[in-house]
Amino acid sequence: MDKNSIPTPAMLLDLHLFNRNIRRMAQFFDHRPAKLRPHFKAHRCLEIARRQCASGAIGITCSSIWDAASLVNHGMDHVLVANEIASDEKLACAARLCRERKDVIVGVDNLTLARTMDRVGFANGTRLNVLLDVNVGMNRCGLVPGTELSRLAHFCSQARGLCFRGVMGYEGHVAGGPRSAGKAARIRKALSVLTRVADDLRKDGIPVGIVSAGGSSTYWATGEFPGVTEVQAGSYFAMEPSLVGTGVDFSLAATVLTTIISTPRKGYAIGDAGRKAFHPSHGMPVPKSLKGAVVEQLHAEHCIINLSAQKRHPRVGQKIECFVPYVDGTFNLYDRIYVVHKGKVEGIWDILPRNPGGEAIPSRNATSAMM
Ligand SMILES: Cc1ncc(COP(=O)(O)O)c(C=O)c1O
Repeated sequence: MDKNSIPTPAMLLDLHLFNRNIRRMAQFFDHRPAKLRPHFKAHRCLEIARRQCASGAIGITCSSIWDAASLVNHGMDHVLVANEIASDEKLACAARLCRERKDVIVGVDNLTLARTMDRVGFANGTRLNVLLDVNVGMNRCGLVPGTELSRLAHFCSQARGLCFRGVMGYEGHVAGGPRSAGKAARIRKALSVLTRVADDLRKDGIPVGIVSAGGSSTYWATGEFPGVTEVQAGSYFAMEPSLVGTGVDFSLAATVLTTIISTPRKGYAIGDAGRKAFHPSHGMPVPKSLKGAVVEQLHAEHCIINLSAQKRHPRVGQKIECFVPYVDGTFNLYDRIYVVHKGKVEGIWDILPRNPGGEAIPSRNATSAMM
């Protein structure tokens, strides 16, 4: 199938660049003590997760217990939910996963919830594996070091229905900006909060196996930081335009294919991909082969492209690609990924259904990997 026959808007992944990104990240971790447990939320695609594991990742990170259930139901091991789970149905799901696969781990940052998790684990004849979520400065979930955190860690390490596995923290507040000595120092400062918690717990006799942190724009410092055992990078497989020039060595592999539906006035073209096709966090989509063209606005189902810096204007009916500004939010908008090499579709990979709202997540038939 030719790329230009794909119905638009559509998510495209350049196979060659994707393979290169996966390989480069795998090479970085190859000879280091820290390992990669890539974040599934970036793509929510089982085929990509399998390929990441085949190239050396030690498991998969995700942020929802439902995604963890899908991963486990499809045979994936070593799944970390780097997030808190706080409702009965999610806890029941976590208990089932921990009973069936002893290597599913979830985050915790609240003693009352930990007590409930303990009861759920014990009542289900299992132990819920937990990582203590530490606030390393990002101020989302996670506890700052102190009495509350210490009390929680001690409780988790002694509870009959829990298995304390270690600590996690995400240094997202220092992820922005180019690679530099200053950025490395900011990352190290955040991570030292996490590793100090781990060291203090060990001094108290609590074994800390896992110290998990990091992302695609910090992996180069986080993956080398003494004491960090794994890195949760996600969007590196596709890369984002906002990361170009920041010193991370990946290529822009993901684009949305859009059809030009109108050229209503001089210097402008309108595509059929709007906010339902791109998540505009991290900037506007960037037209791939229209040098200087700028997406000025996204409406629900239109993108408004300013072509004034362009000599050759696209015609109505032409299909063009735009780089995806925010990978996590955009892949989630699609059901499938068209995997493209040299203008031809080489495979179609399913993306998991969104918000299943339950554990019985039917797989929309097996991933069709045509390679
Ligand atoms: C908990 C957690 N870990 C890791 C990441 C890194 O993701 P990425 O590699 O896409 O920057 C994120 C991003 O939001 C995150 O929330």
